[in-house]
Amino acid sequence: MFEEAQLYSPVTTEADGSVTVHLAHDHPGANDPAYRARRSEIAGAALRWQPGQPSPAISYTEEEQEVWRTVCRELAPKHERYAVAEYLEAVDRVALPADRVPGLDEVSARIAPLTGWRYVPAAGLVPLDVFYGSLADRVFHSTQYVRHPAVPLYTPEPDIIHEVIGHGHLLATPTFGELHRLAGTAARRLTEIENLRFLSRVFWFSLEFGVVVEDGELRAYGAGILSSYGEIEEFRGMEHRPLDIVEMGTAEYDITQYQPVLYRAESIDEIVEVIGGFFTTATDESIAALAQRAAAAS
Ligand SMILES: [Fe+2]
Repeated sequence: MFEEAQLYSPVTTEADGSVTVHLAHDHPGANDPAYRARRSEIAGAALRWQPGQPSPAISYTEEEQEVWRTVCRELAPKHERYAVAEYLEAVDRVALPADRVPGLDEVSARIAPLTGWRYVPAAGLVPLDVFYGSLADRVFHSTQYVRHPAVPLYTPEPDIIHEVIGHGHLLATPTFGELHRLAGTAARRLTEIENLRFLSRVFWFSLEFGVVVEDGELRAYGAGILSSYGEIEEFRGMEHRPLDIVEMGTAEYDITQYQPVLYRAESIDEIVEVIGGFFTTATDESIAALAQRAAAAS
């Protein structure tokens, strides 16, 4: 089953205040002491941050800037081919710099006038109730580190490229920004962690890995696909299934692999109706009933 802890490298703080990010042995940066130190430095800045303060101003190295530039350059033509129209409009309206990593406050300043969203720093894993609950207030918890430069087109974890290029452009759209917010309102109603996990899986298969037919073509609206150089080339060839909240909310998946099964909407309206409808109405009781239905069917 999906555990959020697998998605982010664990972060620990020692008694002396020193912060360490623990990369898995197969992480691209696992054997790079300079990268590990950098990750710990950036995580420490997020942990020291207090609400109301400006986001940590990370002075990105030339190597980190080059990773950002490479990903922007490679993804831009793929977005043209594969992203939904609203996302592409947001790319133009938000106009993120392609030549340097933006600060989180700069990202907020570009998105807030459009849809009211703002970014706050995260060291790594944010508890599910906090991460999803904040979406109700149009607040997005974002990491600030950059993936390892040896593999600029791959990351096992959500780095700032995923958070900003993937989610940021969605948050700047009327439809997908609102779906993120509705997921937050649902999270705020839930008290059981199992139900929050159900919600997070529906979120995963829609706002992270959702695909939709638009003008007769299959396009991506999931932040995970739109920020991944590999997945964006593969999603049309994956297995596609119709939207099904019970199936999406109980499916098991491996975050370290390409998603073999994607849930496909036949229109943007269907996403709003089915996914948005679920986020709007979900309660502990309704999710427990859906999970029971899944258990009975298996
Ligand atoms: Fe994400």
